[in-house]
Amino acid sequence: MNMRDDIAEILYTEEQLAEIVSRMGRQISEDYEGKNLFMISVLKGSLIFMADLMRAVTVPCSIDFLSVSSYGKGTVSSGAVRILKDLDDSLEGKDLLVVEDILDSGVTLSFLLKNLSARNPRSIRLCTLLDKPERRKVDIRPDYVGAEVPDEFIVGYGLDYAEKYRNLPYIGVLKPEVYAG
Ligand code: IMP
Ligand code: MG
Repeated sequence: MNMRDDIAEILYTEEQLAEIVSRMGRQISEDYEGKNLFMISVLKGSLIFMADLMRAVTVPCSIDFLSVSSYGKGTVSSGAVRILKDLDDSLEGKDLLVVEDILDSGVTLSFLLKNLSARNPRSIRLCTLLDKPERRKVDIRPDYVGAEVPDEFIVGYGLDYAEKYRNLPYIGVLKPEVYAG
């Protein structure tokens, strides 16, 4: 089986993604000069983006990962968010950059932001590779956005459908018949 057969359309190629990530890395490096940058990857979707983004950042940084409950096998958010894997260390005095794959309804990040702010970091900002602004349910604005995408189900470059397609090196729209059945 070839995963490419399940993709209706490629939105961003490997080369385009590399360019987007390098531009974001440059901006973040400027903004975090002299700060205590702590990049937090929201698993699992942001794994590949995080790995590329941190190498595009030229200022010192440390990293950690957290994981929250997700869509399960569906394509629509249930709205209930829970921390499944938490950070290892205290956030006091750190300049947090929360790294997400895609900002959809915003429910997940709005919950996370509240949770992380309560741990007394020095600052907190959001960085998302993709943004689906049409779908927003809560008022949340990311500080760094790689690209806006239409209201369709996107996979690849870390993003999954039922845990599949994360290893596609590009980002594409999943054919609706794949999840309609
Ligand atoms: P939100 O809470 O609705 O903003 O959901 C955010 C999370 O849902 C993202 O971090 C993704 O894991 C997942 N998600 C939202 N839209 C998509 C999509 O089009 N493809 C794959 N995952 C998605
Ligand atoms: Mg995610």
